[in-house]
Amino acid sequence: MSGRGDWATPERMAEQAATGEGVFGAYEAFEKGTDEKTIGAHGIVDDAYALVYARNLRDLLRRHGAPVAGPILDVGCGIGTITHAIHAACGAGTDCQGIDLSAPAIRVARERYADCAFRVASADDLGTFADGTFSLIHAREFYPFTRSADAGLHARFLSEFAAKLMPGGSVAAVQIVEPAGLADSLAALAGQAPSLGFESAVRRVMVPNRAYRGIGRAAYGAGLYTLVSAAGAVLESIRPGRVSYVYLFRKSAV
Ligand SMILES: C[S@@+](CC[C@H](N)C(=O)[O-])C[C@H]1O[C@@H](n2cnc3c(N)ncnc32)[C@H](O)[C@@H]1O
Repeated sequence: MSGRGDWATPERMAEQAATGEGVFGAYEAFEKGTDEKTIGAHGIVDDAYALVYARNLRDLLRRHGAPVAGPILDVGCGIGTITHAIHAACGAGTDCQGIDLSAPAIRVARERYADCAFRVASADDLGTFADGTFSLIHAREFYPFTRSADAGLHARFLSEFAAKLMPGGSVAAVQIVEPAGLADSLAALAGQAPSLGFESAVRRVMVPNRAYRGIGRAAYGAGLYTLVSAAGAVLESIRPGRVSYVYLFRKSAV
């Protein structure tokens, strides 16, 4: 593999975690209390905002017939803010777990959110989970998907995820305002979906959180969501990379 996504491979990410580069340094500083701000450049830290995001995601998934009942795995969960919000949005009984390469981030997540389980792991090796465990695997701004256009790298993660999904389960990969990543590989991934363990691979517009906050689940009603999706397509053609998408990979129900 070559190009701008090289640094997003599990191997390079593990090296960065060991040396405290980039996001990993931000997690360390956040845990030590020496810098609580930089982490905000890498993920959601605000619980109230995360809850809006999680409800938005829940309603989008319901709209597209994807289960949100649990168990749910949040890969690249960072300090667990979104994992916890998904737990709240989907109901207190929902089993939500998060994994991340960063040990400091996972320590913070455990400290802050006792209602979810967290562990240090790489998302390309989910061997500690039994096959068929999860109804949903969620990944927001997961670097291998959002900072690399490499379809082979994406396929490596997706086939691992497919094995851990129960029949009818889904992967929901969320990409915020960035033109590269799954946008580049979706056509190739859709073509090889059956060999990766999925029956479909599609991209859907996510209602902007600001709009969702005002409108709520009605934003995913048939008429309004058709309008939002059309507006997203227009915006994408004028200003590529400005629309947030959920990439949905569905596993067959049988
Ligand atoms: C931009 S942060 C997103 C954090 C969180 N999902 C959010 O949106 O607020 C990307 C996360 O992906 C994690 N990550 C990258 N490669 C990973 C891998 N192979 N396995 C597990 N986590 C990984 C990083 O450690 C980092 O926490």
